Amino acid sequence: MKRPLRKILSYLLPRKGSKTMPSTPILPTRKTDYVASPRSIKRCILRANALTKTFLEPLRCDILKDISLTVYEGETIAIMGPSGVGKSTLLHILGTLDAPSSGSLEIAGRDALGVANTLLRNQHIGFIFQSYNLLDEYSVLDNVMMPAKIARNKNHEAQAVKLLESVGLASHKNHLAKLLSGGEKQRVAIARALCNDPDLILADEPSGNLDDTNSARIHELLISSAKELNKALIVVTHNFELAKQCDQVYTLYDGKLTLDKSV
Ligand SMILES: Nc1ncnc2c1ncn2[C@@H]1O[C@H](COP(=O)(O)OP(=O)(O)O)[C@@H](O)[C@H]1O
Ligand SMILES: [Mg+2]
Repeated sequence: MKRPLRKILSYLLPRKGSKTMPSTPILPTRKTDYVASPRSIKRCILRANALTKTFLEPLRCDILKDISLTVYEGETIAIMGPSGVGKSTLLHILGTLDAPSSGSLEIAGRDALGVANTLLRNQHIGFIFQSYNLLDEYSVLDNVMMPAKIARNKNHEAQAVKLLESVGLASHKNHLAKLLSGGEKQRVAIARALCNDPDLILADEPSGNLDDTNSARIHELLISSAKELNKALIVVTHNFELAKQCDQVYTLYDGKLTLDKSV
C-alpha cells in the first residue's frame, strides 16, 4: 500500500477495545459467530441463508432462488454475472435496503430482517454505488460526514478529514460534490462508506463508470481499505482485475451463487 493510505488509515486500524480485533480474547456469544483460521479467530460479519426474491410486477420473476453466503471479517468477496441476473437485487438485500421473499440474514450476529434494521445498517454497513450517490449540493466533507452525523458519532469531522486524506482528496474538502470528476466522486464515496467504521462494505460496480486508470485506483483503495481495516467486502463487478484481487469470486446465475475461486 502506498504511504498516504497506510499511514492515514492507521488510526482506524484495530486498536485496544476495538470491536474488530479485541486485545484480550472475548468469548463469542455464539460459537458459530467465529471461525478458527491459522492466523486468528475471525468474526462472522454476514450470514445469509436460503435467501429468495420474487418480483411479481410487471411479470412474476424468481430472480434469487437459493442464496447462502457467509462472510468473515477481513474477507473480500466478488460477485460477477451477466447484467440483469440480480446482482444489485442481491446486494441490496444483503445491505438491508430491500427485503428478501424468504430466507434469513444476520449482520454482525444480529437478525437483519427485523423492523429495526436502519440502525443496524447505519452502524455496520458502508455502501458504494456505481453512480456514487453523493449529495451534489453539499461539500465533499459534508458528504463524508453524513453517515456519522446520522449515527451521532463524536469526532466525525476529524475522522472524515483523515479519510479524505487517505483517498487523496483533503484539499477538496470544501468543494461542492457536483464539481468533482467521476473518479474523485467515487473516492469520496469510499471515504463516506468508511466513516462509521463499518464491519461490512458493499460495493455495486464501483468502477462501472470509470476509465481504466481511475478504476485501478478505486480497486486498490477498496481492497487495501478492507485488508488494512479488517473489513468484510462484498463487491459486485464485471471487472476481472478487481475480482482477481478478492479472496473469493462467485458467479450469480439463474438465481444461484457458484463459487469460482477461493484462496
Ligand atoms: N423492484 C423491481 N420490480 C420488478 N423487477 C425488478 C425490480 N428490481 C429489479 N428488477 C428486475 O430484476 C432483474 C435483475 O435486476 P438487477 O438486480 O438490477 O440485475 P443486475 O444488477 O444483475 O444487472 C432485472 O430484470 C430487473 O429489471
Ligand atoms: Mg446491477
